[in-house]
Amino acid sequence: MSIYEAAEKWKDEAIRLRRHIHRHPELGNQEFATAALVTEFLTSLDIEVRHIGATGVVGLLRGSEEGPVFGIRADMDALPIEEQTGLPFASVNPGIMHACGHDVHTAILLATAAVLSEHRTQIKGAVKFVFQPAEEVAGGASDLIEGGVLEDPPVDAIIALHVWPDAPSGTVALKKGAMLAAADAFEIRIAGKGGHAAYPHRTVDPVIIAAQVITALQTIVSRHVSPLEPAVISITKLSSSSQAFNVIANEVRLGGTVRTHHPDVRSAIQKQMEKLTVSIAESFGGKAEFTYTKGVSTVINDDNIVDIIEEAAITALGREKVFYLKEASMGGEDFGAYLEHIPGAMFRLGSVAEEEPRSVLPLHHDSIIFDEHAILTGIAVLAQTALHFFHKEQDKRG
Ligand code: NI
Repeated sequence: MSIYEAAEKWKDEAIRLRRHIHRHPELGNQEFATAALVTEFLTSLDIEVRHIGATGVVGLLRGSEEGPVFGIRADMDALPIEEQTGLPFASVNPGIMHACGHDVHTAILLATAAVLSEHRTQIKGAVKFVFQPAEEVAGGASDLIEGGVLEDPPVDAIIALHVWPDAPSGTVALKKGAMLAAADAFEIRIAGKGGHAAYPHRTVDPVIIAAQVITALQTIVSRHVSPLEPAVISITKLSSSSQAFNVIANEVRLGGTVRTHHPDVRSAIQKQMEKLTVSIAESFGGKAEFTYTKGVSTVINDDNIVDIIEEAAITALGREKVFYLKEASMGGEDFGAYLEHIPGAMFRLGSVAEEEPRSVLPLHHDSIIFDEHAILTGIAVLAQTALHFFHKEQDKRG
C-alpha cells in the first residue's frame, strides 16, 4: 500500500477531528480542550506523550531502531474573530474562530501520526509530533523551545505546513531560503523642552526633531540595505504631548514595524535606527529613547529539507501537484524560531476549491472556507516526507 493510500484510510477520521476542533476553537495558550483531544488521540496510537506548559503537547513515536529524530509541528490556536461561514460545524465559541486553518493543521498532524505509527518498521529513529500553542500571539514556538521541545531526544530536523488560499487543493508550494519575514516593533520617545509657541528659540521643539528622525529613518532601507535584500521600515504611530495650538510639546512618541528576511539586515537596521535617532535628537538639543522589540524570526528553509519534501510530495501526489513559490512573503510566522536551532522547512498546502468562492478569501477572514481535500494531501506529504528523511539518513550512514 502506498503512503497516499494509507493516508486515504485516515482521511474521514481526520475530517471528523478537524470539524470537532473547528467547532470548539480556543485562543492562544488556552487550547485546553484541543490539547486534551490531541493527548487522547496520540495515546490511543501508543505514542509517548509529554506536555510542555499548560497546553503544549509533544508525541514521540519510536521506530524500529535508534537513529535521528524528525520533528513535525502543527499550531493549534484560533483567532478572536466572529465566524461568518455558516458551516454546520461553525464555531460554538462566541468571538473565536479557526480562521487561519490551525484546526486543519492539527487534524492533519494527528492523522499523520496514525499513518506513521502503522509504518514503525520504516522509521529508523523517531518522529516527534509537536502540537504548539499560541502561534497567532507569537511566543508559542519560543515557549516550547525553552520548555525543551527540541531536546530529549534531540530533534535533527523539523517541518511544518500552512494552508494556503492561493493555490488549488491537492497541491503543495515550496520555497528554498527565506519564506516569511522577521516582524519586529519599535518605539521612539523624543524629549525636548516645551514652551510658548510664539517663542520657539526658548524651547527645544521635539516635533521638529521627530520630523528629522522620520526622514532619516527612510534613508536606511534606501541607502544602507542592498536593493536586492527585502526590508521594510514603516512608521505607523506619531503623537505629540501638546494638545494646544500655541504650545510647543515636551515630548513626541513614534513607533512602527520592521520587516526583514536576512538576520544580518535585521540587526544592521536596528543598530542604524538607534544611531540616527539618538544622534539627531542630541544634535538638536533633545534626547531620544529607542526601544526595539524582536517579534517572530524569519522562516529560512533549509535547501536539503526542501529537496526531501519535494521528492516526497512528487512521490505522494505526482509532479504536476508540486510547485515552487516565486517570491517570499513579508508576513510573519513563529516557525522561524525552530529554524534558528535546527534545519527545517515549511511548505504551503493549497486549500482552494473551484466550486467554493469563499476558499480564496484571505487567511484570518471571518468567512474563509478551507477545502477539506487538502487534509488528505497534507497527511500524505508529511508522512511521506518523514519516511524519505529516514531513508536519506540511512543512505548517508551507508
Ligand atoms: Ni496561521
